[in-house]
Amino acid sequence: MDLGIEGERALLLGGTQGLTYSAAKFLHEAGVAVALNGRNAESGAAAVKALGAGAAFVQGDVADPTQAPFIHERAEKALGGPVSILVTNAGGPPPGQFLEHDEAAWLRALETNMLSALRMAKLVLPGMMARRWGRIVNVTSFSVREPYPNLVLSNGARGGLTGAMSTIAREVAAFGVTVNSVLPGLMDTGALKRVYNQQSLRQNISVEEARRRMAESVPTKRLGEADDFGPAVAFLCSRHAGYITAQNLTVDGGLVRAVM
Ligand SMILES: NC(=O)c1ccc[n+]([C@@H]2O[C@H](COP(=O)([O-])OP(=O)(O)OC[C@H]3O[C@@H](n4cnc5c(N)ncnc54)[C@H](OP(=O)(O)O)[C@@H]3O)[C@@H](O)[C@H]2O)c1
Repeated sequence: MDLGIEGERALLLGGTQGLTYSAAKFLHEAGVAVALNGRNAESGAAAVKALGAGAAFVQGDVADPTQAPFIHERAEKALGGPVSILVTNAGGPPPGQFLEHDEAAWLRALETNMLSALRMAKLVLPGMMARRWGRIVNVTSFSVREPYPNLVLSNGARGGLTGAMSTIAREVAAFGVTVNSVLPGLMDTGALKRVYNQQSLRQNISVEEARRRMAESVPTKRLGEADDFGPAVAFLCSRHAGYITAQNLTVDGGLVRAVM
């Protein structure tokens, strides 16, 4: 399917690896110029090299509020014009139970997984609304639908982001701008690898066994791959998805057992 977005300009926060890199790959394939953000220069260079012409790396930490305007400015310079597609993402907060986290941990989680996305949305939305076309897609988590044990920071911050984005979606809908989120399940990329590596140590089992047990918990009996996820993001950015807004699309192989 032709996504109908050739020539658009996308900024993908946390886009040099994993799920959001896959989204960048499918957008790039559809003729979209992509600016990939991340902190590590080496992985940034490798990601843009793999995509080739039409891809640029914009270094910066989205958890640092002072860096947002520079990430935005450098992305627009690299893209040759204003951002018309924003994909928000960052690494997830550390695991742990409520009583183990101090206030500083909460503030870091909110900065990284909630405020970073809202901050960048505020920078790109006025232009999108003036041009009467734009797409925002947030990478969140299946835990928005079914809070995951031992991940109180992630469950809290992502729930907050989801509520705010759902409100923003209605505020900008009449301007041709859509705002949606895509919720990964158990996907075999960086964030999950860290979890099953940790489980293998804690449970004194091999990494392969920890990974196998996790895959067994998914109805498809396999973990998701990055490329199970990227196309869903790309579709929500397409011309064809103009009437889809304020939605949370779970890409999880049936993991979440909710009816809706
Ligand atoms: N994989 C899963 O099963 C799963 C399930 C539920 C939710 N999630 C969530 O989905 C998101 C993506 O997961 P993933 O597995 O694709 O992660 P990943 O493979 O570790 O990739 C994360 C990407 O974000 C960048 N990044 C991380 N923190 C950043 C920051 N503060 N500022 C700018 N860039 C940052 C990383 O680059 P640098 O390190 O160079 O900055 C990298 O490009 C995470 O929030 C994760 O918690 C994942």
